[in-house]
Amino acid sequence: MTKTAAPPEPRASFDSWGPYALLLAGVVAAVLSARAVGMNRSAVVVSAALVTAGVVVQVTWGRVKRSRPGPSRTGVCLYLVRWVLGFTLTWLNPFFAFYAVTGYYTAVRELPRRLVTTGLFLTAITMAGSEVGGMPPHGLVLWTGFLLVLGVNMGMVTVFTRFNQQEQDRARVQAETITELNRTNAALQQALDENAALHAQLLVQAREAGVADERRRLAAEIHDTLAQGLTGIIAQLQVVVNTPDRDQAREHTGRAMELARHSLGEARRSVHNLAPVALEHDGLPEALKKTVAEWGERTGVRAGLTITGTAEELHDEVSATLLRIVQEALSNAARHARATRVGVTLSFLGEEVILDIRDDGTGFDPRAVPARTSAGGFGLDGMRARAERIAGSLTVESEPGQGTALSARVPLVRHDQ
Ligand SMILES: Nc1ncnc2c1ncn2[C@@H]1O[C@H](COP(=O)(O)OP(=O)(O)O)[C@@H](O)[C@H]1O
Ligand SMILES: [Mg+2]
Repeated sequence: MTKTAAPPEPRASFDSWGPYALLLAGVVAAVLSARAVGMNRSAVVVSAALVTAGVVVQVTWGRVKRSRPGPSRTGVCLYLVRWVLGFTLTWLNPFFAFYAVTGYYTAVRELPRRLVTTGLFLTAITMAGSEVGGMPPHGLVLWTGFLLVLGVNMGMVTVFTRFNQQEQDRARVQAETITELNRTNAALQQALDENAALHAQLLVQAREAGVADERRRLAAEIHDTLAQGLTGIIAQLQVVVNTPDRDQAREHTGRAMELARHSLGEARRSVHNLAPVALEHDGLPEALKKTVAEWGERTGVRAGLTITGTAEELHDEVSATLLRIVQEALSNAARHARATRVGVTLSFLGEEVILDIRDDGTGFDPRAVPARTSAGGFGLDGMRARAERIAGSLTVESEPGQGTALSARVPLVRHDQ
């Protein structure tokens, strides 16, 4: 959309045909007045030759000017040649001043600035000579008249030329401003285009990030519900396989079925992005209490829940996040820790909720946890991701033989917020 504005060339067309028209006017006036001003035969012949030379000069000049506009050294030469022609013709017949006047309006465009006044002065001499009735002036009176008229000519021409120059300067500044504006516009358009492209790219990235986020959420959900459920079911069935006692086998089969049913329900809820079943009717403290108690019963590990601070009704997302973290932490304790005691603490601390899960099991080196593979290991990463998604954080403290302490810290967002 770049437009380049060519600087306007004032009266460009008059520049090309003006000198011919003025020369013609001079010729007509000279022919009509030839007898009156007393031109002899040789003066007529010389005039004819000079007029021809004037035409040739003008044709040449027009061609040069087209290839090299503006003041130049050739411009100075041609101005002088034309002045000599104009001056001589006017000497031969004052009416050729029609042609000589060309110098007045071409000076500014053809001469360098420092030579303009000189050029105008030369032309003014020709004009003044014509205006006092022809050159050379005869007698003191005519000479005085010539000087006066020359002065008036110079004064007027200088004023007009100054205006002309100012106008040209203004036109040039205007043209430059327009060019600059166009350049700015182009730059602006380019910036806008780049911005639009960037915006589109950002949208794509945001969509991709959304997809990635959703995939992570689903992976975590599958791990936390299905994988945990299946682990529990396997453990129960293992007991069934190994026990000769029919009653005990029935009891564990029952638990396995219950776990399967529960996991199935949780999986369905995950797909629909619903809150965990445990939170359907209870607030977080109650849901945690039941979850911890159930887990203790199932695993035979002593487990307890402590609540400190004033319990507040939490936002669904916060409750679900903390419940899932507890579920995964308990699942890990059952699978990896061989613990005898597990304590869960939920603390309401001003604008924060802190959830601690400690076990006295085997512990592990958190830095040595292998990187996540497709086979599993969503647990700790998943817990961290869940906490971070609601602007919280998770810390893991553990050492082989020293048990494990997990701490999730999240902002307290109330139910109605
Ligand atoms: N409470 C714990 N006690 C002992 N080891 C643990 C405990 N929690 C996690 N770990 C160790 O950290 C590893 C990573 O845990 P996690 O990310 O939950 O993956 P996964 O449970 O699928 O193996 C576990 O394989 C285990 O070695
Ligand atoms: Mg795990």
